[in-house]
Amino acid sequence: MSSLQNLVDLHCHLIPYVDDGAYDEEESLELLKREADQGVRTICLTPHLRADMFETTEEQVQERFSLVQSLAREAELPLTLYCSREYHYDRILRGLLQTRDLRPLGLGNTLLVEFGGREDEAEMLEALDKVRRSGYTPLIAHVERCLAIHEDWAFAHELRAAGALLQVNAGSILGREGLRQKLLTRKLLQKDLVTVIASDAHDSEIRVPELGLCAEHLENKFGRSLARRLLSEAPTAILNGQTIRGE
Ligand SMILES: [Fe+2]
Repeated sequence: MSSLQNLVDLHCHLIPYVDDGAYDEEESLELLKREADQGVRTICLTPHLRADMFETTEEQVQERFSLVQSLAREAELPLTLYCSREYHYDRILRGLLQTRDLRPLGLGNTLLVEFGGREDEAEMLEALDKVRRSGYTPLIAHVERCLAIHEDWAFAHELRAAGALLQVNAGSILGREGLRQKLLTRKLLQKDLVTVIASDAHDSEIRVPELGLCAEHLENKFGRSLARRLLSEAPTAILNGQTIRGE
């Protein structure tokens, strides 16, 4: 395991009863413990908000988030917890952008935005422009799943130039999502196009918290400073509302 300290996970689904993440309190606690075992000290919990699929209200999320906070406190886990959302780019998000009734990551103005994956380049750029013009910085969730990036990895340069930050999943880097995803994330890392790595953990068996393992892998392949930047410094800056490199 990596000796890097204070890893930060700013995209995961550890709150029970709000989406397809943790099943119940028991699994939620198990996942929090695993995060801590992996060297994570700060977590931003990001339940899905997606039309016709996950429409849990802010009040419900807040209530369940308080439950998770007490689970962590009672278990004396060394974790600082924040709560935000993973916003699917759909009619609900477009409506909320108009009223600015949104919950950015931590204390800043960065929104975790998920695309369906099949949008073409023009559709993605238009969406990012809408988010930016509403006063938010978009952080594209697991960008390696977007078809437009698969067809042309260099499109990531355009996404960055359009003001988007790019998040990739630790599982993709570690090969859990197949060879294509692994090779694509390696290319994005080699070209220094990735802003931040997160777990996107959902459960204790398949999509699990493994940022510590990912840190070790990155240290071996790309060096310690990149691992520290993508797993600790950049996510900390985002949560604190600071401008980060390339923004
Ligand atoms: Fe997610």
